Amino acid sequence: MKLRKAVIPVAGLGTRFLPATKTVPKELLPIVDIPSIQYVVQEAVDAGIQEIIFVTGRGKDSIEDHFDEAPELEQVLAERGQTENIEMLRRIAEMTEVVSVRQKKPLGLGHAVLCARDLVGDEPFAVMLADDLIDSDTPCIRQLLDIFEDKKESVIALMEVLPEEVQQYGVIKGKEIEKRLYQIQATVEKPPAKEAPSRMAIIGRYILRPEIFSILQKQPPGRGGEIQLTDGLAQLVRERQVFGCQFLGDRYDIGDKFGFVRATVAYALKRPDLKTKVKDYLKSVVH
Ligand code: G1P
Repeated sequence: MKLRKAVIPVAGLGTRFLPATKTVPKELLPIVDIPSIQYVVQEAVDAGIQEIIFVTGRGKDSIEDHFDEAPELEQVLAERGQTENIEMLRRIAEMTEVVSVRQKKPLGLGHAVLCARDLVGDEPFAVMLADDLIDSDTPCIRQLLDIFEDKKESVIALMEVLPEEVQQYGVIKGKEIEKRLYQIQATVEKPPAKEAPSRMAIIGRYILRPEIFSILQKQPPGRGGEIQLTDGLAQLVRERQVFGCQFLGDRYDIGDKFGFVRATVAYALKRPDLKTKVKDYLKSVVH
């Protein structure tokens, strides 16, 4: 069955980016001039996913507005003869179908995914975390989908991290069965370094079978008192096969200030209009 839907949780308050996030959703903070969420949606679209389900919260309506038509703005741009801008805005509005559901309480990532249950229905779906930007030749979620289409089982994105970093991630125990392909045996959310089963961290891209919903429904709160998706995965692993994909690409944690700066520099360096200027500037700063 073709995978059609991606769930993107965007209800978080973004407190790490205050005061910027006092009135602006963190997902709309731009990497250069594109709101970060647009990169994530573009990744889904490039992978052939047709519908985006935002799990939103209060004050997040402008995320949906970003992917909607903007006739008043277009009118002003038309009067000013800015046809390129009009075309760009239309492309964004036509990128994909967007629907949303509210997560009324901040009960955790597992709970956020569960909120999308009715909109997803009884079919496999993607989960994409907006704090993870992944720059790759083949969209990261497409790399997972290729495995899913072969195995018909859930697939999660993996990246090797430093020993001192494992405690910031969901971590797997697993066996590499082919190059970059893992059979997952267990998952644990943010283990202390000493207890981590490996250095393979879960990154925010998942293809999940719908069985995860009934698991999350019963899932008690875990680390941080939150309903953790990683705990749901741990149970899914007991019931079915789950695979891990050590994806190819550069990942930026834009939920972190330094990660955000890294992403800004890296994406600016990829832009034909900025590349040379930014490179020269960086050289001058270093000297
Ligand atoms: C979430 C997940 C964690 C995963 C991480 C990837 O954590 O709970 O398992 O490793 O995303 O970015 P968060 O970073 O939201 O605390």
